[in-house]
Amino acid sequence: MIYLDNAATSFPKPPEVAKAAAGVIEKIGGNPGRAGHRGAISGGRIMEKCRELAASLLGAAAPEQVIFCLNCTDALNTAIRGTLHRGDEVLVSHAEHNAVMRPLMGYHDSGQITVRILPPEENGLLSPDTVRAAVGPKTALMVLCHASNVTGIIQPAQEIISACHSLGVPVLLDAAQTAGTEDIAPLDADMIAVPGHKGLLGPMGTGLLALRGDVLPRPFREGGTGSASESLRQPELLPDRLESGTANLPGIAGLTQGLKFVLGHRAAIREYEGALHKRLREGLENIPGVVTYCGPEGTPHAGLVSFNVGALDSGQVADALNSAGIAVRGGLHCAPSIHAWLGTSGAVRASLGPFNTERDVDALLSAVTRIAREK
Ligand code: ALA
Repeated sequence: MIYLDNAATSFPKPPEVAKAAAGVIEKIGGNPGRAGHRGAISGGRIMEKCRELAASLLGAAAPEQVIFCLNCTDALNTAIRGTLHRGDEVLVSHAEHNAVMRPLMGYHDSGQITVRILPPEENGLLSPDTVRAAVGPKTALMVLCHASNVTGIIQPAQEIISACHSLGVPVLLDAAQTAGTEDIAPLDADMIAVPGHKGLLGPMGTGLLALRGDVLPRPFREGGTGSASESLRQPELLPDRLESGTANLPGIAGLTQGLKFVLGHRAAIREYEGALHKRLREGLENIPGVVTYCGPEGTPHAGLVSFNVGALDSGQVADALNSAGIAVRGGLHCAPSIHAWLGTSGAVRASLGPFNTERDVDALLSAVTRIAREK
């Protein structure tokens, strides 16, 4: 199988990832922070190491400002549910995933908050001026999708963050499609949510929330932390405030190895995926009957291209590619607002990872050419 669905989850992973995850299951008996015996302490060390690496990748001032989550959706929920109050207004881009929109719209529909979806310019980029003009007295948060999981377009995040900060509005950055390739540490976002299993090359069931400003979310999940156990109340201090229950130690051990790989190769991965993206985009655009949904030439993109083949249903094309041994994702990609903006009812998405090759891209191009010819 040629795997071109890295925007959903990366595959394959560096071999050390599986080795580290299996190593925990096979060799470590102990629950980190829950006992003083050797296994529990070794597990705790794995978590510390992972937090340190993640803090450096995500630009958190201290490791305890990195929270282990179940996935990026969980990290976004932690940030959204933990910071909003009744009466708040939240600004979002048109490119948000349902991981952002569903928690927000739940509050919006019950009248607790107001959500405003900001329109992009024609080129797909959200203008900082649009954001500045939208901020009102009740604006309490801006949520920004760094790169769309449908178009791949990377937003001018720092300019938007600066516009928000100049008006006192904190920013939650959803870096689901950019962590591992873009240098997100220098961005000034107050909170950054990332999956562990996409660009960071860790196992599924891992995600991170980096808290980088003064915003301190309330816990939306409470329970045992192994600390302050005499108290019936959730500890105030990070990370325990936001981490309850037994951690996914095998996942975190694997993520540690993914982070090591990414920290050692990020710039090279970005350049390599950039070159593959160019080949993929240009190749698709040269196939008669194929329409791609990218930004104008020169716009920064994450390593994915969505497209349609004539009037064929995207699910049908994805199935045909699957039969040809190529894994892609069709449909709405859990991001209906951007599909509405594109005027599509679905698209086929091919998404790249650091272990894809030019041959993988060329195999997709040949298969799509065949499908377009036979339609
Ligand atoms: N959010 C992931 C995707 O875009 C799962 O496929």
